[in-house]
Amino acid sequence: MATWSAPGKIFLFGEHAVVYGKPGIAMAIKPRVMVTVRKAKRQKKPNSSYIAECFRQMGVSGSVYVRSQLPSSSGLGSSAAVTVATLFAINDEFDIGKSPEELSSLAHIVEKNVQKGRASATDTYVSTVGGMVLITGNTKRRLPPQPIQLVIGNSLTHHNTSEMVGKVAELKRTRPQIADPIIDAIAAVTRCSMHHFNNPRELGNLMNMNHALLDALGVGHPQISRLVLAARAAGALGAKVTGAGGGGCMFALCSKSAKTRVAGAIEACDARAIITTIDTQGVRKE
Ligand code: MEV
Repeated sequence: MATWSAPGKIFLFGEHAVVYGKPGIAMAIKPRVMVTVRKAKRQKKPNSSYIAECFRQMGVSGSVYVRSQLPSSSGLGSSAAVTVATLFAINDEFDIGKSPEELSSLAHIVEKNVQKGRASATDTYVSTVGGMVLITGNTKRRLPPQPIQLVIGNSLTHHNTSEMVGKVAELKRTRPQIADPIIDAIAAVTRCSMHHFNNPRELGNLMNMNHALLDALGVGHPQISRLVLAARAAGALGAKVTGAGGGGCMFALCSKSAKTRVAGAIEACDARAIITTIDTQGVRKE
């Protein structure tokens, strides 16, 4: 029997702009997914198509038990965390001997196969390595981890990443004179943030700007805007949507002392709050 866990992720800066080769910064967050794999003669049909695809790719059969603190389909990378933890657990349980790099690439292939084409390579990478990651085009590198204090707000509204990515692509096609400068401005905000990780107030301002620019790109949602405004009014230093938008999750950057108040303000808007911080560890054996 082998148990492995992997973290979820948020985009601190730069989602959507990364699709066009601009920089983005993603961060692993504390809620983790734990996956236990056990050898079995015959494959028991898993509930998750991601897990079924992991076994198919690894060419073995087994049984799986998943415990997750990450809400699924909310933009926090839960499918990537399940996929990464499952592949590492299978590799361990069956002594397959694949390297972490091979498993991370395979995790992206699994996500692409299940999601029929579109999958974020960022999610599987961040879940594998943990900490903070700078994405530029096809290059990803770890940044020095920062003790960032956050409250995530899950709007509990359904969102669809492919639809949102398509919406931005359509705006770029029909109104490039508007969409392109917005994407360039998101990239400028992301670059600027790299100089302010030790200045939470300025970092918060930059998050607010990034949120407004994403709204301008058309990936906002009324409930996300409500949570962002409620978090700022309750004392957050900054707040923004994370991931594809159109629903899903937002997060607020908070001082330690403001976290509970901000979480209360989010819950008062019929949303779920998760008080959390960076997870410097990626996938690991439990
Ligand atoms: C989705 O979590 C983030 C997007 O930038 C898409 C991607 O990076 O693949 C919208």
